[in-house]
Amino acid sequence: MQAIKIRENIYWVGAIDWDLRNFHGYLTQRGSTYNSYLVLDDKITLIDNVKDYLAEEQISRIKSVIDPSKIDYIIQNHIEMDHSGSLPLLKQLSRDAKIFISPKGAEGIPKHFNMKEEEFNVVKSGDVLNLGNRTLQFILTPMVHWPDNMVTYCTEEHLLFSNDAFGQHLASSERFDDEFSADITMEEAKKYYANIVMPYGRQVQKALLALQNLEVDTIAPSHGLIWRKDTSKIIQKYKKWSENKVDDKALIIYDTMWQSTKTIAYAIQDAFNEKNYTTRMLSLQYNHISDIMTELLNAKYICIGSPTLNSNVLPSVSAFLTYMKGLSPQSRIGLAFGSYGWGGQSIDIIDNTLKNCGFETMDPIKIQYRPDKETLEEITTRVKNNL
Ligand code: FEO
Repeated sequence: MQAIKIRENIYWVGAIDWDLRNFHGYLTQRGSTYNSYLVLDDKITLIDNVKDYLAEEQISRIKSVIDPSKIDYIIQNHIEMDHSGSLPLLKQLSRDAKIFISPKGAEGIPKHFNMKEEEFNVVKSGDVLNLGNRTLQFILTPMVHWPDNMVTYCTEEHLLFSNDAFGQHLASSERFDDEFSADITMEEAKKYYANIVMPYGRQVQKALLALQNLEVDTIAPSHGLIWRKDTSKIIQKYKKWSENKVDDKALIIYDTMWQSTKTIAYAIQDAFNEKNYTTRMLSLQYNHISDIMTELLNAKYICIGSPTLNSNVLPSVSAFLTYMKGLSPQSRIGLAFGSYGWGGQSIDIIDNTLKNCGFETMDPIKIQYRPDKETLEEITTRVKNNL
């Protein structure tokens, strides 16, 4: 395993997780990488680490450039285990290395590993570390997406080591965005934001404000490709996403038992189509909840349907409602719908969840048994008149 040179005396020494498909519930259909960077300067510096089961890969890449015992500094931007798993082993190999970490990182890391808080050098926003020919500046970015997150900026290189921010779960042998499909890279960045960063929009805005005075031409995140072509574009996307700016787009998300709820779903879609909205029909039988969240990131209308089963929603709908509520999308308009035989509780459960998410809601659509043609036309007209 070789290090990959990304700048003069700066190497990528991370690990590629080709087989990863489940990142705590997020379908990572293209795998992922855990990026680690090695800066060769008067002080040899390692920035971020990798998952524990890929530690040997990272160490082998480091060894292709230097003896790990020569590392002077380790910057641990984030303590989540996909970036800190190999730290204990690295520390054994680089016994004299000083580890730099945020205050919350120093508090948290002894709760993950058999390491003591005193082993860490705590840094705060604005602190600078001189490596010789280069300087590193630390900027705390709490809750993007853990309390301990920080980013590290190399002034002379105009290079931001952004850790989770601007990342994508994407395994590839390519390291830069201009070497890979721009559409796939942006799609995976969008999915990453929707499924990991979305609850922390306000904190993202604070972080963007802190970064706006820096001259950044390259962003090296801890997952996926390094942004050197679409750097401004991904920053603009983060701005839009963090402000909950949406498009004229409607999601119709549903599951069905005997096709009645599905029929209602298509009648609702007709209303949006007639008003020239972009629509997505998202059956929970065929779409992963994390892919639906990607679509939801820029959708204004969120319509969710379930028939009533045992006085409740279908389990697939329940899982989606739980997942969506946790990711706290804001400023959307919701619509609950479904068919029922008796009781009809599913529609109220969905409507209440949409309200609890803080969405404006349209009057729910609740149809007993099978909707006939006239009823479906009425549904289309009713929804259309509300747009
Ligand atoms: Fe990629 Fe928050 O870890």
